Amino acid sequence: MSELVLYEKKESIALLTVNRPKALNAINRDVLLALEEAMAELRQDADIKAVILTGAGEKAFVAGADIAFMQGLSPADGEAFSRLGHRVLDAIENLNKIVIAAVNGFALGGGLELALACDIRVGAEKAQMGIPEVALGLIPGFGGTQRLPRLVGPGMAKEMLATGKRIKAQEALSCGLLNHVVPQEQLMQFCMDMAGQIAANSATAIAYGKCSMNAGMEMDLARALAFEAGQFGLTLSTPDAAEGVSAFLEKRPPKFQ
Ligand code: CAA
Repeated sequence: MSELVLYEKKESIALLTVNRPKALNAINRDVLLALEEAMAELRQDADIKAVILTGAGEKAFVAGADIAFMQGLSPADGEAFSRLGHRVLDAIENLNKIVIAAVNGFALGGGLELALACDIRVGAEKAQMGIPEVALGLIPGFGGTQRLPRLVGPGMAKEMLATGKRIKAQEALSCGLLNHVVPQEQLMQFCMDMAGQIAANSATAIAYGKCSMNAGMEMDLARALAFEAGQFGLTLSTPDAAEGVSAFLEKRPPKFQ
């Protein structure tokens, strides 16, 4: 595994850390490839039940795509970089496990887009989030023009796009960009506790439920409900459902696979 993305296992929880602290964890092609490798490994690792993604150092989650790396890229190379970003962030969004972004500082541009691909975002009080690309003459290229309006609504997303302003943690909380804001020193423990709660439940059911929500949000309600019904039917045939239902009826805690 690359040094650009550190991978630690803490029992059934994986902690991934984007590790370029001197450049505030800015994302270049190698960081994207390292994240992609981590997702491929996580997808296969049945022992891991939840993932926490954070940034190395005291200042930043990720301060964006690497501006120096992007300088002078041709349109074709820029498009390829954007498409690679999409591929990797899609792999995070569609991972068969929940990914919690522990936003420990600046989450800007591609860094905010990375957090948006995660399922849950928890911010430290000092976190600052924004899409400042227009100040560089650019637009967000890792899905920000699509995932941000879906999460916070088009009005707030367009304000963030056009002003490029950095919003503080409390404002990010109030517009739904963050699920929780906690003091910096409690951030990792808070995320570990949440990941622990997730890990106690059926990983199979969580994977089905996440897939149903992700897929359904791209459909009209009637098709989405039909999709949910099919997924629900499938979960009934899993060993985890057999165990969970039996455990409830036998008044004992379940032992999921
Ligand atoms: N790319 C490359 N290097 C970056 C970087 C980035 N996105 N963000 C910070 N760095 C580097 C700085 O160049 C600096 O390096 P040196 O020490 O070698 O000079 C180091 O990280 C520390 O940064 P600062 O000295 O700037 O730290 P600061 O505390 O004064 O400011 C900051 C922090 C406000 C986050 C500021 O660094 C900043 O504005 N960064 C850029 C944010 C940005 O514009 N992000 C969007 C990038 S474009 C994008 O992401 C496109 C896309 O969607 C694909």
